Amino acid sequence: MRNEGPPAFPSGPGDPLAGRRVLVLISGSIAAVKLPLLVSALVQRGALVRCVLSPSAEGLVSAVALASLSRAPCHLEADQWSHQAPRPLHIELAEWAEVVLLAPLSATSLARWVHGLADTLLASTLLACEAPVLAAPAMNSAMWAAPAVRRNWRELQSWERVLPLEPGSGLLACDRVGDGRMADPAVLLLALESLLLVGCRRDWRGRRLLVSAGPTREPLDPARCLTNPSTGRMGVLLAQAARFRGATVDLVHGPLAVDPAWLEGLQVHPVDTAAAMQAALEGLQAGADAIAMAAAVADHRRSAPETAKLAKQDLEACLATGWEPVPDLLAALVRRRPPAQAILGFAAQSGEVLQEARAKFARKGCDLLFANPIDRPGAGFASATNDGWLLGPGSRERRFEAGGKLALAHRLLSALAEVLTLRIPDRVPAGR
Ligand code: CTP
Repeated sequence: MRNEGPPAFPSGPGDPLAGRRVLVLISGSIAAVKLPLLVSALVQRGALVRCVLSPSAEGLVSAVALASLSRAPCHLEADQWSHQAPRPLHIELAEWAEVVLLAPLSATSLARWVHGLADTLLASTLLACEAPVLAAPAMNSAMWAAPAVRRNWRELQSWERVLPLEPGSGLLACDRVGDGRMADPAVLLLALESLLLVGCRRDWRGRRLLVSAGPTREPLDPARCLTNPSTGRMGVLLAQAARFRGATVDLVHGPLAVDPAWLEGLQVHPVDTAAAMQAALEGLQAGADAIAMAAAVADHRRSAPETAKLAKQDLEACLATGWEPVPDLLAALVRRRPPAQAILGFAAQSGEVLQEARAKFARKGCDLLFANPIDRPGAGFASATNDGWLLGPGSRERRFEAGGKLALAHRLLSALAEVLTLRIPDRVPAGR
């Protein structure tokens, strides 16, 4: 079997999915048709994948496609018991898995799991498995709202080795528009990575995080603007990592260049200019336990943007005057903050990172400042990885070696949680 050996594809350095054993359990919801491509993406990231179909999923998605894309047999109901197998298949699969992706999770499979039933290959594998499970339900909105499903889903929230990923809202296959759409495969990939990085940690449960991300755009005239190369990736990953750890997250963002699916599950507040970002942040600040200011805010703007497009020959003269500095939004948030609020800032540096960052940290007054280079490949704007220094209370300086931005997001969240814990020990939710 291919997935017993080395991964079929080499993956990027430090990819949390590389070489990991992912068991994909697919139950009977039409969202199952999205799974073959997700399995393919996992294999291309270097994961070792095995798939199980529930009896009703067998009629919805091709076992041949799953076997081919996972480079391993796809297990069906009829395979559970065999006179040729020395051990029951459900035990063998349960012990093989390092992490389980349970997607889509149907109302029936949820009920079986919560009530401890083991009457199918999928249900008994789940019951026998001690690995962490990412559970992604998908069903009709009325089924999702049914009291029995609500009760079963609530029960799952308290299970220690489960990361429950709420379905989103949208057009469902039954032509209803409402809750019940399975989390997007791109988000399932992020959540799986997150599970492999930090497990089912829910230490942000009961907390609200306010994140800013992306660039701002300051208009010059109706056809031109001043902006920067920020994609928003770091801020959006911070927001998702916090959501996976149980936080409610508000994301105030400028124009982004990330997969739009990565915004799922977040309260999003799109803005364009620094002034709009400032208004949105100030409106949300009071309700937040912590703030992460990852946006790349423009430094200058026009005192009065032109209302008509400037002719090319007039540009140079126009650009020579008429600018004003953008106020420092982070410093303003620090000045206005309630006493218990923890604030993380970022510093985009070129040249000598630490020296400049120390001065910036003192100037901004935030609790933590993550400083990273933007003049090297593999760090800063638009890069999948980052490295840098985290400056914190008591002149503590921590070096973060190069790693993926989701891994970095988790380290920053842990540092922010530490600041919150020091400040309000009695409000720390029972982490796990
Ligand atoms: N920031 C802000 N408002 C601004 C500029 C920056 O809130 N007008 C925030 C950023 O979101 C980041 C931190 O301040 O969290 C540092 O941003 P950075 O661009 O590194 O520094 P600047 O303050 O702009 O200083 P300089 O450009 O001189 O390095």
